[in-house]
Amino acid sequence: MATAVPDTQAEQVIHGRIPAVWWTHEHRDLSYTNEEFNDRLSVSLWRAAGFTQLKFTGDMYDMRRQEPVWVTPFRKIFDWDLFSWSFYRMGPGTVLPNHGDTYARFCGIHGITDIQRVYRAVVFLEPWAGGHYAEYDGQPLVQWQRGDWVAWRGDTLHAAANVGFTDRYTLQITGVPRANSLIQ
Ligand SMILES: [Fe+2]
Repeated sequence: MATAVPDTQAEQVIHGRIPAVWWTHEHRDLSYTNEEFNDRLSVSLWRAAGFTQLKFTGDMYDMRRQEPVWVTPFRKIFDWDLFSWSFYRMGPGTVLPNHGDTYARFCGIHGITDIQRVYRAVVFLEPWAGGHYAEYDGQPLVQWQRGDWVAWRGDTLHAAANVGFTDRYTLQITGVPRANSLIQ
């Protein structure tokens, strides 16, 4: 199974595909909870720009909870140090405007002060459905297949939205890739 480890900082956004997916709909049955977006500066910028919704975030099921056994193969594909996972469900109407992540919890736990050491990958857990949207470093992404993933470094800007009528499911992986080998 190919591993996903970057060796270059030239690519802002790296695209990949897990060739043989092993999960079906298990992610739908997790007990998701919702937390406020943790970067108040971004939220105030969005509100100033005209976004009026009450919540900007999807629902999460993350490492503070029990790890489903079917997460283990992801650890082999994203063979990163300090591997952290979070399932993310965006219901219809959820719009997360363009932003850079702060990795506040991850950096706090691991004592990281330079977020450019941190990478994040998003794995699409279901095939694309109408109204599901993603954007990374200014490039739109739609019509993904189950098992497609993107990864970016540090403060790369990105956005996500669901203006469709079905839930949009992803797995977010955060970590510090081992040095100097390509994402394959
Ligand atoms: Fe984000």
